[in-house]
Order: sequence, then C-alpha cells, then structure tokens
Amino acid sequence: MRRSCSCSSSATNGLRVGHHPERAVRRPVRPVPVSGTDVFLCRLVDVPDGGSRGFDPARTGQDTVVVVRRGERLYAWRDACPHHGGTPMAWRKDAYLNAARDRIVCAAHGAQFDIATGICTLGPCLGQRLQKVALDVRDNEIYLKET
Ligand code: FES
Repeated sequence: MRRSCSCSSSATNGLRVGHHPERAVRRPVRPVPVSGTDVFLCRLVDVPDGGSRGFDPARTGQDTVVVVRRGERLYAWRDACPHHGGTPMAWRKDAYLNAARDRIVCAAHGAQFDIATGICTLGPCLGQRLQKVALDVRDNEIYLKET
C-alpha cells in the first residue's frame, strides 16, 4: 500500500523538492517530452545536493537550462549569460558553480550570479539577471514547464 505524502510541488524557483528522493523511480536520464507542454528533465536524485546540472530540453545539441539544487530547493535558469547575447555559462558539462558552490559563474568572463535570484553580483553584467525557468516536481521527477 502506498502512503500519501505532503510534499510541496509548486512551480516556481526555489521549489521545494520534497523529502523522499529515495523513492525515485528509475527513468531515462535523457530529456523527453511528456504529455502537454512539460518536458521531463531527470530524476530528482540526478541533481546532487549542492550541485548543478545542464539540460538540453529542445535537443539542440547544447544545454540551454541550468538547474541548481540546494537542499530541498531547486533553482532553474536559462543557460544564457546576460553579458553577451546569451552566452552559455558552463566551463564544462554541468559545471556552473564557483568553488564555494554559492554562486553560478559564467565561464566566459567570470560573472557571478546569486543562485536564488539570478542577479549578477560580480562581474561585467553587475545588476543584470538570469532568466528564470519554471519547474515542476512530480513523483521525484523534475519537469520543465513550458510557458
Ligand atoms: S558572457 Fe558571461 S560574463 Fe561575459
């Protein structure tokens, strides 16, 4: 018998991801479209706590979305630096954070962004912000909500 859970699953940044990642069901890691306009990104356990991960939901051959997990919260942004025409920010696959893992960093010119607000706090685009991406977490799976 399956127990019900009171985990939240709102669709905003800072999304609480619930407290049962151990119940994740194995699914393909590759992003695949699902019903409606939501796109499956990965299982919750595939984004390490304190880490980041890039996704290519449109299958363009380049990651266009970055997801950062901090404890029970997820933050999602377009992988597009506001400094220069939406430049991809990772210096290698899934590497979006500084050494302290408390800022998103653009590898091109070193701009640093607050993980929760997306605002540039250091670098050439100071005060500009990343573009927010809406997520949904259902059954320990992360979905991109297309708008
Ligand atoms: S393109 Fe990101 S800091 Fe310049």
